[in-house]
Amino acid sequence: MQVVHTITDLRAALAGVQRPAFVPTMGNLHEGHLSLVRLARQRADVTVASIFVNRLQFLPHEDFDSYPRTFDADCAKLEAEGCSIVFAPGEKDLYPEAQTFKVQPDPALADILEGHFRPGFFTGVCTVVMKLFQAVFATTGGGVAVFGQKDYQQLMVIRRMVQQFALPIDIVAASTARADSGLALSSRNGYLSDEQRVQAMALSQALKTLAAAARQGGNLAELEARAMADLRARGWEPDYLTVRQRSDLLAPTDASQGDLVALGAARLGGSNGTRLIDNLEF
Ligand code: PAF
Repeated sequence: MQVVHTITDLRAALAGVQRPAFVPTMGNLHEGHLSLVRLARQRADVTVASIFVNRLQFLPHEDFDSYPRTFDADCAKLEAEGCSIVFAPGEKDLYPEAQTFKVQPDPALADILEGHFRPGFFTGVCTVVMKLFQAVFATTGGGVAVFGQKDYQQLMVIRRMVQQFALPIDIVAASTARADSGLALSSRNGYLSDEQRVQAMALSQALKTLAAAARQGGNLAELEARAMADLRARGWEPDYLTVRQRSDLLAPTDASQGDLVALGAARLGGSNGTRLIDNLEF
């Protein structure tokens, strides 16, 4: 496995490679990320994983500084999975000057849910992903990029970006890796105490309950309000628990129509606690 830090070195490492598979990450890798790498390896002979904690997608009060950076352990895991190239640029390699040109995603998709609670988040994500795509794919005739379904809205935003800019990249979705308790794996789970880790399974359970109730019919706004109240009673601070259409993440006009997804984001441990997200298609 080759480890490179600059776009020039990455392109040199990819010389002659056609259509590699790419897994963008912010590091602190867990089984969820490694399942993306396995999927990538099924799609191409050469697999590139990036490790870059992207300042642009964090709000000033968020955890950019404390985000866990575990580079050596990450490289060992990627090597064990048979990853071919790790691209780990420093901030100056990816942002040699202030990034004043940005990729502005469609507000109808990007300013709701996560984008509502984390304004600018998807602009930060799209901008870095476009830069990473340029770094990896500009000389390879495109390729494949793998994203986790746990970040459901992010996956949709990236798909739309790839489609609208006609990028020669196939986006592959990887299903969410979960602990036995149902808790979706996330780098931020590392912030949870043992006790909170047990409590944290309540988020996926709340989504299951909400999806089951929505399937039975009833007023969605009331079901969502009840789901939020139940979670609050268990010590969480939910941002949203909601049922949306899979096609556009808007509220369904008819909940019996199918192709829906329940999405949730909630903080465990008070207003400075750990913010977790999850979703469930039904
Ligand atoms: O999902 C993530 O880890 C990040 O948002 C991504 C796609 C690597 C961009 O920084």
